[in-house]
Amino acid sequence: MKPTDTSAPASGEDLLPGFAKAREPKYPGTRFEIHHGDCVAGMRALPADSVDLVVTSPPYNLGIDYGTYRDKLDSQAYLEWSREWASEARRVLREDGSFFLNIGAAPADPWLPHEVILALRDLFVLQNTIHWIKSITVETRAGETVSAGHFKPINSKRFVNDCHEFVFHLTRTGRVPLDRRAAGVPYADKSNIARWKHTGGRDTRCRGNTWFIPYETILSRDKERPHPATFPAKLATQCLLLHGKAPADTVMLDPFLGIGHAAIAAGEAGVGRFIGYDIDPGYLATARERLGLPEPEKENE
Ligand SMILES: C[S@@+](CC[C@H](N)C(=O)[O-])C[C@H]1O[C@@H](n2cnc3c(N)ncnc32)[C@H](O)[C@@H]1O
Repeated sequence: MKPTDTSAPASGEDLLPGFAKAREPKYPGTRFEIHHGDCVAGMRALPADSVDLVVTSPPYNLGIDYGTYRDKLDSQAYLEWSREWASEARRVLREDGSFFLNIGAAPADPWLPHEVILALRDLFVLQNTIHWIKSITVETRAGETVSAGHFKPINSKRFVNDCHEFVFHLTRTGRVPLDRRAAGVPYADKSNIARWKHTGGRDTRCRGNTWFIPYETILSRDKERPHPATFPAKLATQCLLLHGKAPADTVMLDPFLGIGHAAIAAGEAGVGRFIGYDIDPGYLATARERLGLPEPEKENE
């Protein structure tokens, strides 16, 4: 019996030396298929028209220090690679499916998200452009200034702090219906509920395309978020809600899984089947641990 065998005794007191405590699946309603390897090869093995929802954030080619991946390709090669993996994502996406592509920029390469989305122009219709707001300051009507969220300060005389990223909502037809109110917000002015017919008496309106989703506050990145470029699970939750298909009937894919925030959102929502890839075994080990999944058998190695 291997130290991580799930048939090992579950109670801490009963464990013999050398036996790891068996993991309990945190989200038993979801079938997770988490693969170590290149997502292009992985997606090629999936049938066409088999995925309802893709939520992903690829490397941005900004020289981020990932464990395995080298994040500094020649910019033409990067755009060609973006088309390559996005073509596979398109092939597996159903006609009524949604693809939410999170991508940000840096002062060193401000055109990047725009170049990527233009490179995908003949593959998808850009149905919505959403701004993921990581940090914001608002002045209330009472004159109070309220700041919320986190950002990485940029020390510069030229550039302002970068407090947002894009989430491009791509579809095959541009006509995919969304459940705007599932991802909605309550009316600030409640008299609108009765005033507008389309409310149907419900106190929920479309949130719009600015999503304030702060990172969770952490004390230790190494222990709590051991990855240099993540999105919060809540970002993927918003995409799931907006896409609107019954979670149990949804097949969701993240080709660049990292430490698994899209998978956590899928599990929390009760998504029926979730597929994820990453080329870094360390990130995947963290993802599996967070999902309560057992260590894999030696796979793709
Ligand atoms: C921006 S991160 C994704 C982080 C993820 N959204 C999260 O919240 O944890 C991009 C990930 O893509 C992975 N990656 C790079 N090239 C890949 C490839 N060809 N196939 C699969 N994963 C790849 C990197 O190892 C990295 O973890």
